[in-house]
Amino acid sequence: MGLLVLVSLLSLLSTVLAAAEKTDAGPAKQRVVEVFGWSQFDFNYPSEEQRQEALKNGSFVPSSMDPTGVHAAGNRVFVCLPRWRRGVPATLAYAVYPDAKGERSPRLNPYPSWELSREGNCEGLTSVFRVFIDQCNRLWAIDTGWSPSWLVPDRICPVKVMAIDLKTDKVVLQYLLPKHVVKSDALPVNIQVEFPNGDCKNPKQAFLYIADTVAFSIIVADLSTGDAWRVTDKTVYPNPELTTFHVAGQTFDMIDGVMGIALGPRMANGDRELYYSAMGGELQHWVKTSILRDKAKVKNSPNAFKTGLKSRQSQTAGYAMDKNGVMIFGLLNSDALVCWNSKSPFEPKNFGYLAQDKTAMQFLATVVIDNDERVWAISTRNQKFVLETIDPKDVNFRVFMSPSVQQAIEGTVCDAREK
Ligand SMILES: *[C@@H]1O[C@H](CO)[C@@H](O)[C@H](O)[C@H]1NC(C)=O
Repeated sequence: MGLLVLVSLLSLLSTVLAAAEKTDAGPAKQRVVEVFGWSQFDFNYPSEEQRQEALKNGSFVPSSMDPTGVHAAGNRVFVCLPRWRRGVPATLAYAVYPDAKGERSPRLNPYPSWELSREGNCEGLTSVFRVFIDQCNRLWAIDTGWSPSWLVPDRICPVKVMAIDLKTDKVVLQYLLPKHVVKSDALPVNIQVEFPNGDCKNPKQAFLYIADTVAFSIIVADLSTGDAWRVTDKTVYPNPELTTFHVAGQTFDMIDGVMGIALGPRMANGDRELYYSAMGGELQHWVKTSILRDKAKVKNSPNAFKTGLKSRQSQTAGYAMDKNGVMIFGLLNSDALVCWNSKSPFEPKNFGYLAQDKTAMQFLATVVIDNDERVWAISTRNQKFVLETIDPKDVNFRVFMSPSVQQAIEGTVCDAREK
């Protein structure tokens, strides 16, 4: 009896505390927290001598790095570092979260290994912009093979997809994209992986959807046959009027096609929508994957490609959708992280603002939802990197996290439970 009273008293107390915390801090502050912030990236080398040597011989140039992707599994937070310029030690790297010493700017570790991160090793990764993690805990990287990819692009290794088992850190699959889908200027930056039969056990049962942002297409690959095809519907092109970007008072041009792609939830008939949008654009599109997967049908189905009701009124660089059909994305022109519930029409009045910060949320490069339903986002200084005005003393790169999609969207227009 005494114990019971104590227990209920304690639970009452914790309810009150939780409520008090919420009101005090303001709900918006609790939706997302900043977990890491870096001025520049540093790496854990096997020894300090090797780190110094790498700094001297030019294989490690801290100012060459500007991240484009983030993902997480368990206690590892992955960061994608394209080889834009010389001196990127590893194109895919991770930090441990939470850091044992509470470091805000932990050093990174190459993934899956130093050897597979070495520039020029075509068995490894050359230049990766984004990764995907499937339900069977495999990380999928789409590798552009370009190094450096800035100003004088040089494809030193073939475009390929690598799948790594996150339990063993072993490469379980390498898929070289067939030459007929890789245009000379192809820049495949983003990937989604679907197992149409609903079973992810065998990686060869996967269909891949790859955003080729420079050669303007979505590349679809069927790993069961090895075949691939380019989808070039009019909706995969940028709008020339919208290839100028205004971020934090700076302006630059980037003629980029599809960059954001995200699979929607599985419908009753097993089909899914693939949501996508051009970086140089403000419209949201989607198409059923059953159409994309049908190589013949996809060419003759222009009406299958859908467009949202209204413009996003900003560009976005990337997003994720959860199992209930809630999309979370960044708005580049307002330094904000927002959500949209795909059960409502796509228009700004149906966007929920999760966080907005002129300094910390500049250029949100992408958003992902991991297998524990945590939300991750990375903000960068891409606008300054492009214009070569990065201040190495600023905090330039930040990782944000929300412990769950529900916590992130609670009480907003995206929260289905509110309706
Ligand atoms: C530079 O030094 C690093 C660390 O010792 C080494 O791994 C790398 O191979 C060196 N690169 C060149 C180009 O000498």
